[in-house]
Amino acid sequence: MQHNEIKKTILVAGATGYLGNYIAKELISRNMDTKIIVRKPGKIIDIASKLTGIIQAEVTRPETIRGHFHGVDTVISTVGITRQKDGLTYMDVDYGANMNLLDEAKRAGVKKFIYVSVINGQLHRNLKLVEAKEAFVDQLKVSGLDYTIIRPNGFFSDMRDFLKMAEKGSVYIFGKGKKKINPIHGADLAQVCVDAINSNKKEIAVGGPDILTHYEVAEMALLASGKPINIIHLPHWLRKSIIWIMRTFTSSKTYGPIEFFLTLMAEDAIAPRYGSHRLSHFFQNEMDTLKKRT
Ligand SMILES: NC(=O)c1ccc[n+]([C@@H]2O[C@H](COP(=O)([O-])OP(=O)(O)OC[C@H]3O[C@@H](n4cnc5c(N)ncnc54)[C@H](OP(=O)(O)O)[C@@H]3O)[C@@H](O)[C@H]2O)c1
Repeated sequence: MQHNEIKKTILVAGATGYLGNYIAKELISRNMDTKIIVRKPGKIIDIASKLTGIIQAEVTRPETIRGHFHGVDTVISTVGITRQKDGLTYMDVDYGANMNLLDEAKRAGVKKFIYVSVINGQLHRNLKLVEAKEAFVDQLKVSGLDYTIIRPNGFFSDMRDFLKMAEKGSVYIFGKGKKKINPIHGADLAQVCVDAINSNKKEIAVGGPDILTHYEVAEMALLASGKPINIIHLPHWLRKSIIWIMRTFTSSKTYGPIEFFLTLMAEDAIAPRYGSHRLSHFFQNEMDTLKKRT
């Protein structure tokens, strides 16, 4: 890992989120000039004093970011809807807000734009959550800016859903649970995103060091929770029915994440392995933190 890169000003959009926060910390640890753009500065108090600048703006409203990118070399964006409930659509945020960032980057003469999409996004453009991200990827590719698209596997933060089920005593998986995944920790992925600043790769698919079946993840979560191994296998017809019902009767904001999760539960999602954080340790740490709180 290079820790002595030429000093450039990097602007992180999404620094109040899981991955963006690790990216800002990684940049700071490499002594790079780090600016962030946030709507709620109160969420980044831990790193505020180490930043070169904090731009308070609404990335969904282009007029609020106008003129703020002067001197920025590279923009890294992890902006996207995950659990936010702002009444906005994926097209408003994953596409629209990132287009606002890209337009401003072009206007300010920014050299490179690094964007975090999802693993196999190109293959799942029909899913609501992916459609908007890949529409942005299309625009980024023809923007004239240098770019890297990061295509990460599931984050450790999302694997907490397995722990939540485990704490209740049973973990539900589909079919035999033999499909595989290599989820990645935010700190490991942040290194990949920061390395991309000086990389000429246009697309980087990446996952964590352990390739695990869904059954193994379920087992790991139950072990960390100190619960007996109780894994319930649900049939795939139920998974497909849930997707259909959600798509038919709820809005894209509601069904988007469920449709994405349930679709990926039916296939292997394996990306080149990177990083040192192990999911079993993450689960154990999560449980320890939980025990200290209660
Ligand atoms: N979780 C996964 O397993 C996974 C896997 C692959 C790719 N990804 C993608 O990677 C990206 C980052 O994921 P993450 O887990 O770090 O997400 P996260 O923790 O929810 O962070 C998302 C960031 O986007 C910002 N944002 C969302 N809606 C916004 C809005 N309307 N206006 C302004 N800012 C807004 C959030 O700001 P606030 O803090 O102010 O809400 C936050 O800084 C997402 O696009 C996600 O889809 C996730």
